[in-house]
This record gives sequence, structure tokens and C-alpha cells, in this order.
Amino acid sequence: MAEDWYIDLSSGKSEAYVALRQGVRALMAGEPNRTANLANVTAAIQATFSWHWVGFYLVDETRDELVLGPFQGPVACTRLQRGKGVCAAAWTSQATVNVPDVEAFPGHVACSSLTRSELVVPVVVDGIVVAVLDIDSRQEADFDADDEAGMAGLVQEVENLWHSWS
Ligand code: SME
Repeated sequence: MAEDWYIDLSSGKSEAYVALRQGVRALMAGEPNRTANLANVTAAIQATFSWHWVGFYLVDETRDELVLGPFQGPVACTRLQRGKGVCAAAWTSQATVNVPDVEAFPGHVACSSLTRSELVVPVVVDGIVVAVLDIDSRQEADFDADDEAGMAGLVQEVENLWHSWS
């Protein structure tokens, strides 16, 4: 049952990510709606790790911007410009961006003054970034290689299904 969602963190973060990836795959199986699936991915991540903010920004091709998608956490910036901030850096570079201290990142967009570190993973489909997954923490340097690999695995599940969604 969806309301029974629970992942044990006591065995370590890598193990939690393995369970989270399996859980996310099961949650999305058979559901063709993109918003529903992205919403549940953010809820599953948040239910597991309780970070400050977890969400997707989607590429809006018509305006060459990122626009806020499904998320969990405080209200956030609705639109992000290309070339400014951590999400845009992941979008443009097509690579994960791990920022241990957001105040030291030139152009960081402070949607919340409580955010201290941030991890952004691009969602790449057919060689093009279609969205980014953004995770914010209230602690400095909260994201390590396990988080980068774990989040990349979750994003891979999203990438695999992206074209089958409407
Ligand atoms: N800090 C991000 C903006 C998005 S919020 O953190 C939700 C950035 O610099 O792109």
C-alpha cells in the first residue's frame, strides 16, 4: 500500500538507495501520467531522507527556462533562467552538480534562505536534458558520492520511462 511506504536507513545510505530505487520503480509501474509519477518520486525521496526540499524542474523549451515541477517542501522559485544557479548549471552541463556550500556557488538562486547545500541531477532523454532533480539540505556538505550515485539511479528510472508518459 502506498501509505505503508517506509525505507529503513539503519543499514546505511547505499542500501536505502537500492530499496528506494526498487520502490520508485514499483510506484511508477503501469502509470502513464508524468506529473503523477514525478510527484510520487519526490514524495518517496522525502519520506526516506526528509531533506529541506526535493523536486523537479522541467525544461520549458519555448522560453528556454526551467519551470517548477512536482516537489516536496517549502514554496519555491517558479522559474529559473538558463546560465544562473545550480539547476541551470546541471541543465547546461548535462552533469550532476554537487554544491557543498551554496553561498560559495556563483549565481546560486536562493529560493530558501535555509538551504546550505544542494545536489542537482539532470534527467537526460535521447541526449537532451528534459528536467533536473534538485535536492536541498539545511546542512552544509550534506551530499556525498552515495547520494550522487543513488540519485542518479532514481533519475535513470525516470529517464527509462519518460517517453512512455503523457
Ligand atoms: N537553488 C537552486 C534554485 C532552486 S531551489 O533550490 C528549489 C538553483 O540555484 O538553481
